Amino acid sequence: MSEQPSSREHWGTRIGLVLAMAGNAIGLGNFLRFPVQATQNGGGAFMIPYFCALLCLGVPLMWCEWAMGRLGGSKGHGTTPGIFTMLWKHPMAKYLGLMGIVFPLGVVFYYNYVEAWTLAYAVFSATGKYFGIADVAGMKGFLSTFQGASSPLGVSLLGYVFFLITFGINVWILSGGISKGIERLANIGMPVLFLFAILLVIRVFTLGAPDPALPENTVVNGLGFIWNPDFSQLANSKVWLAAAGQIFFTLSVGFGAIQCYASYLREKDDVVVTGLSTASANEFVEVILGGSLAIPIAFAFFGRTETLSIAQGGSFNLGFAAMPIIFQKLALGQLLGMMWFFLLFIAGITSSVALMQPLITFLKDELGYTHRKALTATAALCFVMAHVVIFGLHHGTLDEIDFWCGTFGVALFALAETLIFVWIFGPDNAWAEIEKGAQVPAPRIFYYVMKYVTPLYLLVLFVSWTWQQGPAVLTMEGVAPADRVWRWGARLAMLGVFLGLCWLASRSKRLKELTEVKP
Ligand code: TRP
Repeated sequence: MSEQPSSREHWGTRIGLVLAMAGNAIGLGNFLRFPVQATQNGGGAFMIPYFCALLCLGVPLMWCEWAMGRLGGSKGHGTTPGIFTMLWKHPMAKYLGLMGIVFPLGVVFYYNYVEAWTLAYAVFSATGKYFGIADVAGMKGFLSTFQGASSPLGVSLLGYVFFLITFGINVWILSGGISKGIERLANIGMPVLFLFAILLVIRVFTLGAPDPALPENTVVNGLGFIWNPDFSQLANSKVWLAAAGQIFFTLSVGFGAIQCYASYLREKDDVVVTGLSTASANEFVEVILGGSLAIPIAFAFFGRTETLSIAQGGSFNLGFAAMPIIFQKLALGQLLGMMWFFLLFIAGITSSVALMQPLITFLKDELGYTHRKALTATAALCFVMAHVVIFGLHHGTLDEIDFWCGTFGVALFALAETLIFVWIFGPDNAWAEIEKGAQVPAPRIFYYVMKYVTPLYLLVLFVSWTWQQGPAVLTMEGVAPADRVWRWGARLAMLGVFLGLCWLASRSKRLKELTEVKP
């Protein structure tokens, strides 16, 4: 068998690995998506299902994915088409595994563009470009002009230039490979991210009640909104679905991207402690830091009612419209604004490289491409497909791709991977794989969680998702006819990417070898 583990790259240092994995998970989801999801789903009502999903889905899947990735990497298969086939010697396995390349790609097709906005806004803050716009409505207008709402092509020149810069930086980092590209980025970027986030949180906590005439508008009330448990909403399945969706997105589990990073571990490396520390770092940044920024500061300046209505109005309004108004009211606002958006940019870029890496690894491992050729092919595909989102932004292509890849898809993929790893490969084999090299044994209860709770939880989620949203989503209920064309275009484009990858996978000799019975 043509095994090539000896020539395979590895992470340089343990701390570099932890920072890169944390960078993978910590992203725009922690600072932009989490506050909006929490606000839209009732704050304290959201946090209970959120922690349930963390324990029943997030942590066990994190361990499974780390263990699967390390196992695959030891045989030179760093992505799920190869890994699934190792665990389940069936010709179908590789096609199921392709989801673990297509879903991260779908996310990166829009993620790079949003990341570009954060870079642009960091520059706009430093130069004071939006200073003088006095209210949220005005800032929303500024945002949509920047997003090209009134341009004939649906994209502004400035927005496009920042996209090109952002995309270029991503490709440049990926050209360095695992330890000299991604790990180096994480080593520099993550400490800056932590520093900026902590400084901003300190600033928020020292605000008090900024307007003496409105004493109920305080940071503390914002925190109370998230942290006072609200049991009245627990019967509302929408909240449970949203919470599970957030756990997948924020931890990057259910995408195939964790397996890819973990495939660059060494065979004897621990996954129990390191995997858990990544998840913990992500949760710290999400609920402690992310939860202490946008929502509390917006409560202090706008009050509860307006904050909720801003968050209802759209996913980007809290971060890109409300925050810039607040920065204008603070001393050193330009500096604080720059810190906020640059922090988002770092969070974004350490995730977007992780979203593109699976395809690169697949092309190298399974088709024998050189790094250069794999990177060129991946970059070309991502560049072209980003335009579906860039030109179609005002027609809903971002939401369409996000739904199929980031919501529906991950639940399906997570279900497939648990069944293959825990049930087909076998619960004892799976557990032994996780425990191998463990510095501290994983709590035994997770054996049972993985075996029963996780798959059942996923099944229920998946069925209720399909049941509740399936027909409306499939038929694009309530979508304007002009937007339907765009959304259909996005669907077909994604299907095209998937079929193209199926064709490549069917031609891979290394994948075929895995199902051949050795004489
Ligand atoms: N976790 C990232 C965030 O919070 C986004 C993300 C989702 C991601 N799936 C991923 C990143 C897969 C890398 C790989 O923003």
